[in-house]
Amino acid sequence: MMKVLFINGPNLNMLGKRERDTYGSFSWKEIEEELCKEAHRLNVEVLFFQSNHEGEIVERIQRAPEENVDFLIINAGAYTHTSIAIRDAVLSVQIPVIEVHMSNVFKREPFRQVSFLSDIAQGIICGMGKLGYKLALHAAVELKNGTPDM
Ligand code: DQA
Repeated sequence: MMKVLFINGPNLNMLGKRERDTYGSFSWKEIEEELCKEAHRLNVEVLFFQSNHEGEIVERIQRAPEENVDFLIINAGAYTHTSIAIRDAVLSVQIPVIEVHMSNVFKREPFRQVSFLSDIAQGIICGMGKLGYKLALHAAVELKNGTPDM
């Protein structure tokens, strides 16, 4: 069975409470439940990890190959814009990545338009709120099966 690891970076544990106009009113727990249902429909195993600490995210990415993870779906939060360490961890495991942002980072402050992940990601989904994670899951399945119409 295909295995997908979702990684959320700092402050994404605050979804539903933080800046609701930007990130919506759903908690990560609610989003995770929806993703589990979708994964069941798609016959995919999903793993979830959230941390506010850069090193923990690096270590979680490093463990992914041992667990035969096929795809990473990463919303690195603010670390997207700063972390060479997370970029290097992704490069070191050679597992394809889809970068997700709930908000449209291109409509926001210029510093959010810099990403250390975009050029090494298979693709990027941003501005779709919680739907972005579900779209990324579908994309991962199609890319893995080699059937995307692109
Ligand atoms: C975010 C965008 C980042 O700029 C921000 O720091 C976040 C969330 C998003 O999902 O839109 O924490 O990654």
